Amino acid sequence: MSFLPIIQAALLAVAVTAATAPTSNSTSPIQEPDWASIIPSRELEYHDCYNGLKCARLSVPLDWRNASDNRLTHIAMVKLPAAVPDDDATFGGTVIINPGGPGLSGVSYLVERGANVQKLLVDIPDTRHYEVVSFDPRGIGRTTPTVNCFRSNELTRMAWTLENHAKGPLSSGPVISYGLGLWRFHYSRCQQEDSMRGPDEEALKFVNTPSVARDMVEIVDKIDELRKREAAKRQKPSQKKPADTNPTVARIQYIGWSYGSILGNYFASMFPGRVGRMVLDGVMDPRDYATGSGWVSNTQDTDKLLEEFWKTCYVAGARLCPFYKTDNDWKAAQQRFYKWVAHLDDYPAATKSPSGGLLALRGEDVRRIVANALYSPLQHFRPLALALYEGMKGNPTRLFKWTDAEIPKIEDARRGAQNVSTTPAVKEEQVMAVLCTDGQDISSRQVAWWQETVSDQHKQSKLLGYLWAAIRFSCSAWQLRPSWEFRGPFQSPAHSVKLETDRPAAPLLFLSTVLDPVTPLRVAKLAARSHVGSVVVTQKSLGHTAWGSAPSKCTWKIVSKYLLTGVMPETGTVCEEDCGPAWRAMFDAKEPSRLRQVPLGLE
Ligand SMILES: *[C@@H]1O[C@H](CO)[C@@H](O)[C@H](O)[C@H]1NC(C)=O
Ligand SMILES: *[C@@H]1O[C@H](CO)[C@@H](O)[C@H](O)[C@H]1NC(C)=O
Ligand SMILES: *[C@@H]1O[C@H](CO)[C@@H](O)[C@H](O)[C@H]1NC(C)=O
Repeated sequence: MSFLPIIQAALLAVAVTAATAPTSNSTSPIQEPDWASIIPSRELEYHDCYNGLKCARLSVPLDWRNASDNRLTHIAMVKLPAAVPDDDATFGGTVIINPGGPGLSGVSYLVERGANVQKLLVDIPDTRHYEVVSFDPRGIGRTTPTVNCFRSNELTRMAWTLENHAKGPLSSGPVISYGLGLWRFHYSRCQQEDSMRGPDEEALKFVNTPSVARDMVEIVDKIDELRKREAAKRQKPSQKKPADTNPTVARIQYIGWSYGSILGNYFASMFPGRVGRMVLDGVMDPRDYATGSGWVSNTQDTDKLLEEFWKTCYVAGARLCPFYKTDNDWKAAQQRFYKWVAHLDDYPAATKSPSGGLLALRGEDVRRIVANALYSPLQHFRPLALALYEGMKGNPTRLFKWTDAEIPKIEDARRGAQNVSTTPAVKEEQVMAVLCTDGQDISSRQVAWWQETVSDQHKQSKLLGYLWAAIRFSCSAWQLRPSWEFRGPFQSPAHSVKLETDRPAAPLLFLSTVLDPVTPLRVAKLAARSHVGSVVVTQKSLGHTAWGSAPSKCTWKIVSKYLLTGVMPETGTVCEEDCGPAWRAMFDAKEPSRLRQVPLGLE
C-alpha cells in the first residue's frame, strides 16, 4: 500500500505530525496523558487530560457476537466539553466524530482539531452548544489490545517496508508475484504475533467496522447513562423523580469524514433506530468497500482533478505559475509532465540521501507525491507546482526531499529502542486488519487476476491507479475472517420525527466537493439514494471532503442547522467556498504539510 504511504509514513508520522500541528501556534507539543494509568471500566468515567479535555477508557465486549466470551477491549475516548453545562437550555448533547482511515486516531484528531469542529461546524452561538467526542477505534492507537504485527521486532518492519517500497508499482507480472510473496510473509507475521500474545491480547478478528459500529451504540448509551446519573446527583433528594418507566433509546449525533462515512453508513444500516443526526462527508460507496474486488469506484475523478491543477496554474498567471516560462498552455505542461514521469519510470533519478543512503526518484514516486497533493489543493498546489517545475527542468531536489521523508531509516529503528514516542503512529496492519476483513476474501487470487485488477485501476486513473490497486493488494494473503461480517444492505428507512423504533430521527446529510481525488461526487449521490430522504450538498471546492478541502461558511451553516433541526437542505444545494477565487488561495499556499498515512482520511 505504498502510496498514501501507510507503510512508509507509519514510522515517521509522529515526527512529521509534531512539525506541522496545524491549528496551534504553540511550539510545545501537546502533552500526551499516561493512558495506562486510567483504569478501564464498563461505565463511562472521565478524567482530566490534554489541558482542558476529558479522557476515558471504556471497556466493551471484544466479541459482540459471542455472549459467552467475556474478554474486553478498552476504547480510548476523548471529550471536548460543551461551552455550556449539560443542564443549560442550549446544551445540544454529544457529537461523535471520526476522521477516517481506516486506522486514524479519533483522539489525536479531536485533540488537534476538535475546537474547530465545535466552533465552526456544530455550535450555533446562543442557540445550541455541543460537546464533541471521538475515540480510537478497536485495534488502533490508544485503544487496547492494539494490532501490531511487528511488536517484537521493529527492525524487521523497517526491512519489510524498504523491500516493499523498492519493489515499485504493480505494473507487471513479476512485480505482482514478488509482492504476493511479501504480503504472504507479512500476513504470517500478523498471525504469529496475534496468537503469540495470549488470548487476552487477540485483536485481528475483532477490529472491523461492524464491531466498531456496535461500539458506537455502546458509547452513545454510556454517555446517556452518565448524563442521567449526573442529572440525578444535581437534583435534591426531595425532588427525585421516579425512574423513567418508558425510556427512549439514546441516539447518535455523528459526523464522519472519508472512511468515517463508511463507518456511519454501517451504523445507519445496522442500527437505523439509533440515528439521531448523521453527516457523511467525502463519501465512499459501502458496497464497493465491502463486496467484490473492492475499492474500484474511488478514482473516477482523480485525473480530472489533476487537469484542474494545470488549469489553475495558468489561471493564476505568470507571477505565480512557473510553467509560463516553459509551456504555452496547461495542456502542453500536462503532456510534458506525463512524458517526464514515464521517462522516470525507465530512468529513475538518483542521489545520496542526507544520511548517506540511496535516494531514487521513480515515476511512481512522483505520481504518489502528486496524488497526495490532490487531497488538499489549497495547501499543496503551489509547492507542488514549484517542485514539479524544478524537477522537470532537471533539478528534483524538492521532490527528493518529499520522497525521502517516506523512506524508513534503519538508523531510526536502531535508536528507536531508546526513545519510544508516547503518541501512537498509524501502523499499516491496523488499516489492513479493518479493510481486509470488511472486504471479501481475495486471498486465493492468482497473478493473472491481479494483473487484470491493477490494469483496470490504471485505466481509470493514470495518476493514481497503481497506487490505489495496492490497497486491496495488501489483502492478497489475508485469510483470516472476522467474528462479525456485514455486507449490507447499506440503506436506511424513512425517518420518523416521532422517534419510532428502527427509524432514523432524521435523514442522513451527505457532503462532497466538486472534484475529490478518492471519493467522487457521483458516488456520494449513489450512496445517498439508499437512505430515504437524504440529500447531497455539493461544496464548490477541490480536494478530499468538504470540511478538509476549504472553509465554507455556507456548508458549516447547513451542518449546524441540520444538527439543530434535522431538516434537510433542498436537493441540489451548492455551497461556495470562502477563499475567493480558488486559484488565488491555492497559489498563496505555504510549505507542504505532512505526508498521508491512510488512503481515506483527514490529515
Ligand atoms: C496564533 O497566531 C495568530 C496570528 O499571529 C493570532 O491571531 C492568534 O491569536 C494566535 N493563537 C493562539 C492560540 O495563540
Ligand atoms: C465463544 O466464547 C467461548 C468462551 O471463550 C468459546 O469457548 C467459544 O468457542 C466461542 N464461540 C465461538 C463461536 O467463537
Ligand atoms: C531519538 O532521539 C534522538 C535524540 O533526541 C533524535 O535525534 C531521534 O530523531 C529520535 N529518534 C526517533 C526514532 O524518534
